[in-house]
Amino acid sequence: MTATAILVAAGAGERLGTGRPKALVELGGEPLLVHAARAFSAAESIDHLVVVLPGGMDPAPVSVLLDSSGWPDAELCEGGPTRQSSVSAGLSACPRDSRVIAVHDAARPLVSPRLIDRTVASLTAGWDAVAPGLVVADTLKLVDSTRQAVLRTVDRRGVWAVQTPQVFGRVTLDRVHARIAPSADAATDDLSLVERAGGRVRLIEGERSNVKITFPTDLAFAERLLAGDRS
Ligand code: C5P
Repeated sequence: MTATAILVAAGAGERLGTGRPKALVELGGEPLLVHAARAFSAAESIDHLVVVLPGGMDPAPVSVLLDSSGWPDAELCEGGPTRQSSVSAGLSACPRDSRVIAVHDAARPLVSPRLIDRTVASLTAGWDAVAPGLVVADTLKLVDSTRQAVLRTVDRRGVWAVQTPQVFGRVTLDRVHARIAPSADAATDDLSLVERAGGRVRLIEGERSNVKITFPTDLAFAERLLAGDRS
């Protein structure tokens, strides 16, 4: 089974504080987007790539970068104000014959080809969506965000932190995006749209090195992972 990957890279990356779109921030001397695109090129289960860019960004330099990352024929499109609207835009740009879609955050540059292939292979009969995740190790507190007062401790048993890529049948992803309009409380991932629609969603064991770059310290941590052994 092969899939089309949608790489969502339209976020502003305000929390990273570099003043440029997060996907173009450099890790080991190359944009985050390039790291992720290369991993998808090396994955055997992926045969097309759609990259969703911030509105108004000149796609020409990105095409050159993608060309040298193994994607001379990637589709580029403009994203929207929320992640959900960016995924919708990417979905519209997927080739018509793509039956399986893997949605990945460009903010996870160290995703491995092995994890991509393992996730695509895990979309087996009986499941509508699958993604990697990790059991949460920290103790969890619900906190009042204005006073930072602890409201209660959340039982962490059975709680997983979810990663990308998230993999779906095309029909399922089209259906949930058409049914659930992006709003102010837009979903922060696509599994949650399938959950809301009553679909069967499964997690597989993720990789600790598949970190999400959100804050400057995440970038520093990813630099160290890149420089050393990720496994
Ligand atoms: O904002 P956050 O870090 O959760 O974003 C996750 C991913 O979604 C990032 O790769 C980001 O570029 C993408 N995104 C997007 N369009 C938006 C917001 C986020 O493509 N409007």
